[in-house]
Amino acid sequence: MTAQLIDGNVVARRLQDDIQQQAAAFEEKHGYPPGLGVILVGADPASQMYVRMKRRACKRVGLHSAAIELPEDATQEEVLAAVQQFNEDSKIHGILVQLPMPDQIDEEAVLSAVSLDKDVDGFHPVNIGALAMKGRTPTFTPATPTGCMVLIEEAGIDPSGKQAVVLGRSNIVGLPVALMLNEANATVTICHSRTPDASSYIREADILVAAIGKPNYVKANWLKPGVVIIDVGTNKVDDPSAEKGYQWVGDVDFEGAKDIAGAITIVPGGVGPMTITMLLSNTLKAAHRLAE
Ligand code: GUN
Repeated sequence: MTAQLIDGNVVARRLQDDIQQQAAAFEEKHGYPPGLGVILVGADPASQMYVRMKRRACKRVGLHSAAIELPEDATQEEVLAAVQQFNEDSKIHGILVQLPMPDQIDEEAVLSAVSLDKDVDGFHPVNIGALAMKGRTPTFTPATPTGCMVLIEEAGIDPSGKQAVVLGRSNIVGLPVALMLNEANATVTICHSRTPDASSYIREADILVAAIGKPNYVKANWLKPGVVIIDVGTNKVDDPSAEKGYQWVGDVDFEGAKDIAGAITIVPGGVGPMTITMLLSNTLKAAHRLAE
């Protein structure tokens, strides 16, 4: 079997074209574009890169973006003041606090301070709580897990009645994507660092979402034929034969998996482009909710 390749770039481009048109229509109607406010604390190179990519994507689709950058030793009060500034700014409709933040910052207090109307990252406890409870609908859901769900849908898979295995239980990906798969009526198993033999669960999976950040961790002979694989892992590994001396690989052994899976995301270019697209989509939604 040769798997259907799920190309997030193609899906993201199509969705971003639509967002661009809607953003232009919003600006035409209101005289200003939808706006995203980004808060970055510290100088972590990966976080700086993510923030740059998010702001570049805003520009590409016609969203306004503003950033508040604070030093590594910023105080809790300074971070809360930045959140407050964006909460009160009528041209900012969505707020993103880049995670992780330095240890001295109480992350929960900061995320709780984001206005519920502007919580485009979906990490406010009220939105996460709504995601966790049957019959409640969060206003916003986190970007990466939402991107995973869109890709599953794009692959033509209805999770209802399927066995889904989520590898990883992070607040940002594993836990929320497990909640979303449950909401979509899959039978969900979460495997994590204390799971004695993750492969025994993975062998039963019709849908596998891998988000543990371990290069090529999932082996081809663990997979059920036809499984749909969403690989969130983006791991940099040394490769002397590659032009740059390294390459990006997922959490799943792609070369082996592509002959067994029914569908599999590419890495890079699978989930990554979807994360930014979902953030743009949430910001547009926030602008419509606040303006209308
Ligand atoms: N750090 C890694 N992923 C994310 C994300 O989706 N949102 C935020 N705010 N920080 C992150």
